[in-house]
Amino acid sequence: MASLEEIQIKEKKTYNRSDWSSAYQNVEKEFENEEIKLVSGTSLNELNGTLLRNGPGILKRKEQWVHHPFDGDGMITGIKFKAGKATLTNKFVKTKGFIEEEAKQKFIYRGVFGTQKTGGVLNNAFDLKFKNIANTHIVRLGDKLLALWEAAGPHALDPNNLETIGLSNLNGVLKKDEAFSAHPKIDLNSQSSSEILVTFGVQTGPKSTIRLMEFSNSGDNNGELLFDRKDLFDGFAFLHDFAITTNWAIFLQNAIDFNPIPFIMGQKGAAQCLKSNSKKIAKFILIPRESGIFRGQSPIIIDAPKGFVFHHVNAFEEDNNIILDSIFYDDFPSVGPDEDFREIDFDNYPDGKLKRSIINIKNRTSKITTTSNQCCEFATVNPKFLGLKSIFSWMATTEQKLGNAPLQSIKKINLITNEEIYWSAAPRGFVSEPIMVPKKNSLNEDEGFLFIVVWNGKRKGSDLVILNSEDMKELAVYELPINIPHGLHGSWLEN
Ligand SMILES: [Fe+2]
Repeated sequence: MASLEEIQIKEKKTYNRSDWSSAYQNVEKEFENEEIKLVSGTSLNELNGTLLRNGPGILKRKEQWVHHPFDGDGMITGIKFKAGKATLTNKFVKTKGFIEEEAKQKFIYRGVFGTQKTGGVLNNAFDLKFKNIANTHIVRLGDKLLALWEAAGPHALDPNNLETIGLSNLNGVLKKDEAFSAHPKIDLNSQSSSEILVTFGVQTGPKSTIRLMEFSNSGDNNGELLFDRKDLFDGFAFLHDFAITTNWAIFLQNAIDFNPIPFIMGQKGAAQCLKSNSKKIAKFILIPRESGIFRGQSPIIIDAPKGFVFHHVNAFEEDNNIILDSIFYDDFPSVGPDEDFREIDFDNYPDGKLKRSIINIKNRTSKITTTSNQCCEFATVNPKFLGLKSIFSWMATTEQKLGNAPLQSIKKINLITNEEIYWSAAPRGFVSEPIMVPKKNSLNEDEGFLFIVVWNGKRKGSDLVILNSEDMKELAVYELPINIPHGLHGSWLEN
């Protein structure tokens, strides 16, 4: 007999909201080198590396929930593959705020996305302190792993056991509390070094400064800062992500305003004070990379299309153009002060669409085309093609073709022909960002593996699914010993 959830799915939607929201719970336990169970497919002996993922791991203290999952403390999951065996290690990032709140078992900091301290507006007003929650991404820089959160510095972790070493200033590169983006790009095609980590920090206000940093990520000077520049721009800038080509760093300054009064008065989180401004024009900011041929030149600013972007997919140079693929929303999506994030109506939130901007550097113009109207997020390309022309992209999408809904499928799209193929976790599974790992020594762009952490709504647990990135066939499914809330970003580390 079909369960209530399955009847609801059949009658109405491709999903049941309680299946989706059941992923939101605290991670209860930390494991170290726990062998994980293969429940379908075969173990892949050729895999020799670690899948690293970051995302919120604490969503509730006593009876108080965070207002938005993005306010949850970072928890790192590492799944290591060696000689056909897979083991899991998971650790919370032991930030100052996490340690303090664990000891008191309550929220003592306000969250950027609207989590308030107990005691109402009066107890929150004029408390402008941030908790660096280190929950957005995890990457390797030099001999350390870095847990990232864009409004403050990175936390260094021990790659062997994921234990927190502490807040890092990267050997004096960063000033105290300096912002360090959660979206670094690993450039394997730079003219300067075999591997460069390119990233930025933004300091915003009526004028904004972007600091663009390029670190060596290989060889004798592994981890050293190679190139560094700062550029000042007019206006407020909310920059979550960027894109790179061989010679450019590309930012999209969304047409958005920040009114800090409700934040200062204790009524809203800082991110809830962002609002799209239809009278403003968004701008592409193109900053020449100091490792490229335009080093030392001034940035170029070009009017951009309407819409709001969190994430870009990839960019490349072609003649006088920069081609940029991004996920565009009609408006900035925010969970209002009176809404419960676990009970949101997806129909009331803007959906993300894959669009291509063609930015003409010579004429200083841009135009945009829609690649797909299907709601998507967390799109990626083969990491060897980052900054270069790539034909394929993989992303998390809704099961339905139009409108907003939870992400339940993984799509491979050919960016030239728009041909699409899918793997689906619907009706009871919910996907996260796919991590693409190319097959060793393969020259084919789409040959490799996709790693996806899936929330299994039927089992009420997390699975790791490995797909063949070429034909999207399922290769292996592992059941994980921890329940991982819907997460954010991650990376692959070769052993
Ligand atoms: Fe992101």
